[in-house]
Amino acid sequence: MNWQLPLVFAQDVTTDLVERVQKTTIDGTTVPESSVIRGGTSNPFTAEYWFPEQASSFAGEVDYLFMGIFWISLVFFIAIVGVMTYFCLKYRRKGDKIEPEPSSSHNTAIEILWSVLPSILLVWMFYVGAESYFNMRIPKEEAEEIKVTAYQFGWTFTYPNGDIATELHLVKDRPVNLRMQSKDVLHSFYVSAFRQKQDIVPGRYTYAYIEPIKTGVYRLSCNEYCGEGHSKMRTACIVHETEEERKEKTKWIVSSHTPAENGKRIYQIHCSGCHNIDGQAGTGPALNLTWGRNAEFEGADPLTVDADYVLESIWEPSAKIVKGYGVAGQPSKMNSFKGVLSQEDVDYVIEYMKFLQDPSSTTDKKVEELETEKN
Ligand code: CUA
Repeated sequence: MNWQLPLVFAQDVTTDLVERVQKTTIDGTTVPESSVIRGGTSNPFTAEYWFPEQASSFAGEVDYLFMGIFWISLVFFIAIVGVMTYFCLKYRRKGDKIEPEPSSSHNTAIEILWSVLPSILLVWMFYVGAESYFNMRIPKEEAEEIKVTAYQFGWTFTYPNGDIATELHLVKDRPVNLRMQSKDVLHSFYVSAFRQKQDIVPGRYTYAYIEPIKTGVYRLSCNEYCGEGHSKMRTACIVHETEEERKEKTKWIVSSHTPAENGKRIYQIHCSGCHNIDGQAGTGPALNLTWGRNAEFEGADPLTVDADYVLESIWEPSAKIVKGYGVAGQPSKMNSFKGVLSQEDVDYVIEYMKFLQDPSSTTDKKVEELETEKN
């Protein structure tokens, strides 16, 4: 029998789906389309065949226990169902005989066996389970702390040096304790290659401890249904060889990106929770159908969306409320970003909005080049 067949078949069927959901993060990393990147073995009797790569220090322990419980269950399943079937056949009613077979009331040897053997197995499961649970939950002292913010529908990661990224960048063999918070509803952090999953609860911190042992790009996803965009709430987790390599990736140098790219990053970090770029209304209006268009307001005259209006909406969101998104004279659902986004940041957001309207309308030159030209 070809054990590989069902999996190969499943992969072919999902190819189309995979293409549709493929996603690139802001630093250009492609988020793995599947959480299952098998370890390259064709032996179906190993965990590596069925599960994603073992990329954290305790992934091997988790798989070991899983496979252990699986095989024990399989052996008992076959033994119990086998004996049951055999007895059903052997002691079935035959001919005219309707008296039951005599049955023994007691067998000390069998009773001791079926009490002691399962007890030993259960204690083993508990012991191995508890041991790896502690390894997963108790961070090493030297673990660095990375702050994780989950929101509808995305992630931001703040590194010890203050850099912010929309992907999780880790360093191989460096233990990390993620301090996680939610801006809105329940989410759940999940990287299957690390065998680590932890709910993120609004109003409190939760922690996830990881010690990555393999470089690579892994899929990080939200694992708790959190609304319409739940399935889009995924990003890449990249494990780097060295700290330098990681710094290179998390550092965002404004001058080495185009204005629209800078705007996209600001959008992803600050705006994408409420404003979509696919034309769909979110908590606020979609940003791709805004720039240069006519906007209607609750209790104010319509106007054409220009730079002054964008700046006003970001700094004083309650000044004009777009029709259908609130009540005139009442505070906007959006908080003011004055003090958070500078006028220069707003410039970049505007460039990104222009780009969303018409990709050819913006420059593909980096800020650096533009500045050199100006001087
Ligand atoms: Cu966040 Cu599902």
